[in-house]
Amino acid sequence: MNEHRPRVAVITGGASGIGLATARRLQQHDWSVVIGDINEASAERALASLDAARAAFVRTDVTREQDIVALLSAAQTRFGGLEGMVNNAGIPGAFGAITEIEVQEWDYTIAVLLRSVFLGIKHAARAFKAAGHGGAIVNVASVAGLSGGVGPQAYSAAKAAVISLTKTTAVELAADGVRVNAVAPGPVLTPILGASPGRQERAAEMLKSTQPWPQPGGPEDIAAGIAFLASSDARFITGETLVIDGGQTAAGPLESMSRLSDPRAKHIAGVDRGSTGQAPTKRTTNSDGGDTDAQRRERGGPPVQP
Ligand code: NAI
Repeated sequence: MNEHRPRVAVITGGASGIGLATARRLQQHDWSVVIGDINEASAERALASLDAARAAFVRTDVTREQDIVALLSAAQTRFGGLEGMVNNAGIPGAFGAITEIEVQEWDYTIAVLLRSVFLGIKHAARAFKAAGHGGAIVNVASVAGLSGGVGPQAYSAAKAAVISLTKTTAVELAADGVRVNAVAPGPVLTPILGASPGRQERAAEMLKSTQPWPQPGGPEDIAAGIAFLASSDARFITGETLVIDGGQTAAGPLESMSRLSDPRAKHIAGVDRGSTGQAPTKRTTNSDGGDTDAQRRERGGPPVQP
C-alpha cells in the first residue's frame, strides 16, 4: 500500500444520520470516504458538507449485489484502494402486529438490513484479499438485536442476525487480517426517527424515561465508535459488538421507546422506508390488530369471524 495515500472507506447509507457522521469522523482521521446511498438528493447535500477532495458518492441500492460490486470498485478506482467498509444503510421497515405483516414488507426489511451486510462483507473481504492486505469492516446493528422489547419484529431479527454474522465472519476472516466488528446503537436522534414536525423533540423527551444517561445521543456518538473499530487502535478487536446506548442495555428492562409509541397499540401496520425518499405504506387494522373487514374484502379475504 502506498504509505502516502489516505486510507479509503466505503460507507453505505452515508447520506444521512450515523453514516454521514461517520464519513465526517473518518475524514477527520485522514480517510477518504465513498458514500453508497439510494437517496441522491440527500447524498448531494451530504457531499457538500464533506471535504470534496476526499469524498465521493455512488448511487447504490444495498439490496442489489451488482450495486455493491460497483460501489466498491468505484471506490478503488477513484482513491486507489480500499481499507474500510461500514455496512450502515437502514430503514425501520415493517411495523404493526405480527399477524398483519405482509411477506413483501418482511422481505424488503430483511433485504435492506441483512442481505446488504452479507453483500458488503462478501465483496469487501474479496477486495481486501485481492489487494493482499487486511481491512476493517464495521456493521451497524442495534440494541433491538439484543432483546425483544425495543424494535419491531423484522428489524430486530435482522439486527440480531447482523450481530451473529459479525462473529462468524470475524472468525473466518481473521487469518486474512480482516477484522469484522459491529456497533449496537440505542435510539439516537437521526432522520430515521421521522421528519414530521416535533418528532425529534418527542423522541428526545421519551429517551428521558428509557435511558440512564441524561442527554440523548447523536449520530456523532455512534460514529466515534465506528471510527475507533475501523482504526489501528482496534487492531486486536474482532467479532465484537460495541453497545453505544447511554446505558440503556446496562439498565435492563426499562419501559422501551418502541412500547411508548407502539404502532400495534394504535392499530396500524405497514412499512416505513426511512430516509430513502420513498413513501411509507400504512393501513389501519381493527382493534384485534387484524385488518378491518373492508380491507380484507379489498384483498379478497373473508371478514373476521366474531
Ligand atoms: P438515517 O435514516 O439517517 O440514514 C439511513 C440511510 O440509509 C439513508 O440515507 C437512506 O437513504 C439509506 N438507505 C436506506 N435504504 C437503502 C438502500 N436500500 N440502499 C442504500 N441506502 C439506503 O438513519 P440512521 O439513524 O443514520 O441509521 C443508520 C443505521 O443505524 C441503520 O442501520 C439503523 O438501523 C441503525 N440504527 C439507528 C438507530 C437510531 O436511533 N438512529 C439506533 C440503532 C441502529
